[in-house]
Order: sequence, then structure tokens, then C-alpha cells
Amino acid sequence: MNTVFDLQSLRWAIAEWKHQGVSIAFVPTMGNLHAGHLSLLKEAKRLADRTVVSIFVNPIQFGKGEDYEGYPSTLEADSRKLQAGGLDLLFAPDLKQLYPAGMDVDTRVTVPQLSNILCGKFRPEHFTGVATVVCKLLINVQPDIALFGEKDYQQLLVIKKMTMDLCMPIEIIGLPIHREADGLAMSSRNGYLNRQERVIAPFIYQALQQAAERLQQNPADIAKIEAQGMQALEAKGFRPEYFSVRRTEDLAEPGPDDTQLSILAAAWLGSARLIDNIQVNVSR
Ligand code: PAJ
Repeated sequence: MNTVFDLQSLRWAIAEWKHQGVSIAFVPTMGNLHAGHLSLLKEAKRLADRTVVSIFVNPIQFGKGEDYEGYPSTLEADSRKLQAGGLDLLFAPDLKQLYPAGMDVDTRVTVPQLSNILCGKFRPEHFTGVATVVCKLLINVQPDIALFGEKDYQQLLVIKKMTMDLCMPIEIIGLPIHREADGLAMSSRNGYLNRQERVIAPFIYQALQQAAERLQQNPADIAKIEAQGMQALEAKGFRPEYFSVRRTEDLAEPGPDDTQLSILAAAWLGSARLIDNIQVNVSR
């Protein structure tokens, strides 16, 4: 595994591969890698000749008072996991590489509408920060495909729309959520949970599963199912931000004929903000 820290070295490595005509798959991350991240690498290896992972904790996607400063940085352990996973190229830039002009005056990439709903309502600059950094990374890595987890389902759609709108010749692939044995979606932020909270945390997935069953039985009962989901999370000690039934395709509010639905939730538990979602196909 080759590790590079600057854009110039990254570009040389990519140019060599382009010259050889091999295909490239890319997995962007913020590090502190777990089995969910590694499942993306595994699929990347299956789909392309060469694989690139980036590790960069992107400050502009964190709001004021969020966990940017405390976000876990574990580059050595991450490198070992990626090497064991058979990665070809790790890109781990510092701030200056990706924000040469300084973060405050840097150009931004904003995906309209989709960035303002659900998580975007509670984290107003978040998806612009994500789209901006992923755009910079895609331009330099020049992959044929890039892989993202459905755990961050709204992020996946933001990136798909960005690459389509900007006419990027890159296929964006979404992969299923990797879960702990008790159903909790794997996340770097699960490390913020104390022992008691860690016991409660899987309930967010149970609440989504219960809501999915209700939705299949009564597809017209969306408002009630959403309210029950919020109440169920509150009763367990979460501070929910939203519990929402949406169209899977574009996260718009469902109409009476929509059958491919997703239920998405975001909730605080102690100092951890947890997100999860589940897809439901209803018959009308
Ligand atoms: P990060 O949270 O490190 O996640 C990197 C990728 O791993 C994302 O595509 C995310 O959806 C995926 N992932 C995380 N947990 C997962 C799980 N339990 N199962 C499957 N996939 C999972 O998402 C980001 O970083 C950043 O916003 C980034 C895209 C790198 C831009 O800074």
C-alpha cells in the first residue's frame, strides 16, 4: 500500500494508473475506520483494478460547536486496517492541501433543495461542506467509481446529484448499512456513547423496524407513524431531531402513489448524534 500526503504525489500515482489504462475505485472517509468503512473497500476491490481511500476530517462540514476538534484521529491504526484490506493507495492530506486559499474564502459547491431538508435543517452548512470536499477529492482522484454508505443516505443522494449536475464521468455506488450484532449502525461517533447509552443506542434501529411494519400495514398513516417514532425515541432517553418517512428516490415527502419509501431518523443520545434509516416497499 502506497500512502501519499499531498496532491502532487496523488496526481503522479493516478497519472501512472491512467497511463496503464486500469480502472480506479475511490472511497472517501474521515478515518477512525470500522467494519462499515472496510465493507466499502472490499466492494471497491471487487469492482475495480485499483483502489484509493482518502482520510481527511473536513472542517467545513462541521457546524459551530460540533465535534470537529474532538473527532477521533487514528491514522496509524487506520493504515494497518487498510493495508490488511488490500488497499492500493491511501491519500491523507492536511488542511493546506485541500484548502489552499483558506477555509473562509474557499469556493463552495452547493446542491440545492436536498441539502436543506432532514439533516440539512439541523446542520445548515453540512452538505455544502461535504459536496465541496468530495468534489475536490473526485477531481484529483479521477476514479471511475466512488463508493458511499447508505448509512448516510442523504449524503449519498447529495453526492449523486452533484456528480450528475456537474457532468462528472464518475459512477456513484451506494452500499448497505453495516451493523453491530445488536443492530446499531456502525459509526465513528458510537465511540462517544458511555456504557449505559451504548445499551440503549440500538433502539433507534428497532424504532425504525417497528415503523416500517406499521407503514406496510397502513401506508396512509405516515404522520401518525412519524409522531410515534419521535415519542418512542424520547421515551428511551434520546433527543430526536427527526423521524421521517420519505421517498427513497429523492427524499421528497411521499405522495399517495409512492411505493418505494425510506424512514430516516436522527437523534442525540448523550453527546453522540446518531443517524439511521431503513427502506420499505409498500403496496398500495
Ligand atoms: P465517514 O463518516 O468517515 O464515512 C465514510 C463512508 O463510510 C461514507 O460513505 C459513509 O456512509 C460510510 N459508512 C459509515 N458508516 C457506515 C456503515 N455503518 N455501513 C456502511 N457504510 C458506512 O461520510 C463521511 O465520512 C464524510 O462526510 C465524507 C464523505 C468522507 C466527506 O468528508
